[in-house]
Amino acid sequence: MIILVINGPNLNLLGQRDEKHYGQQTLDEINQLLQNRANELDISIKLKFFQSNCEGALIDFIQQNRESDGLIINPGAFAHYSYALADGLRDFSGRKAEVHLSDISQREDWRAKSVTAEASDKVFMGKLEKSYIEAFEWLIDTRQNKLKIQNL
Ligand code: DQA
Repeated sequence: MIILVINGPNLNLLGQRDEKHYGQQTLDEINQLLQNRANELDISIKLKFFQSNCEGALIDFIQQNRESDGLIINPGAFAHYSYALADGLRDFSGRKAEVHLSDISQREDWRAKSVTAEASDKVFMGKLEKSYIEAFEWLIDTRQNKLKIQNL
């Protein structure tokens, strides 16, 4: 089972960004938490990590890995306006979880809307790094995967 873990612009600077919204963990630490959780669950999951500040690079990565079973994406600010990224997600047939560290519904008006969330199956937000862990657990939930297989 291959799961993509994709992070968009400015998330490479986690740990140095506004702590109030994004916490203290670096992206490497968050990725390690996910890897640890995958190891703990002792199932054959391969996580593929990718971060870019460039919209096209994120879309290229999703296209190149379209055979994967699922993905977790924090699109950063692209969530609020990238219809190109949203369409890239629509063309990915695996299960998709959008993640935000902060609760975007409780911040600036422009941030409350996510156009990429409309292309995802579920959104996890407002729990800092726990948003990623919850998204991961949801993705690998066996009942959910059974549903996916039945829908094929
Ligand atoms: C974010 C929220 C976005 O609005 C912001 O641009 C980010 C991070 C989050 O994880 O809370 O860079 O996606």
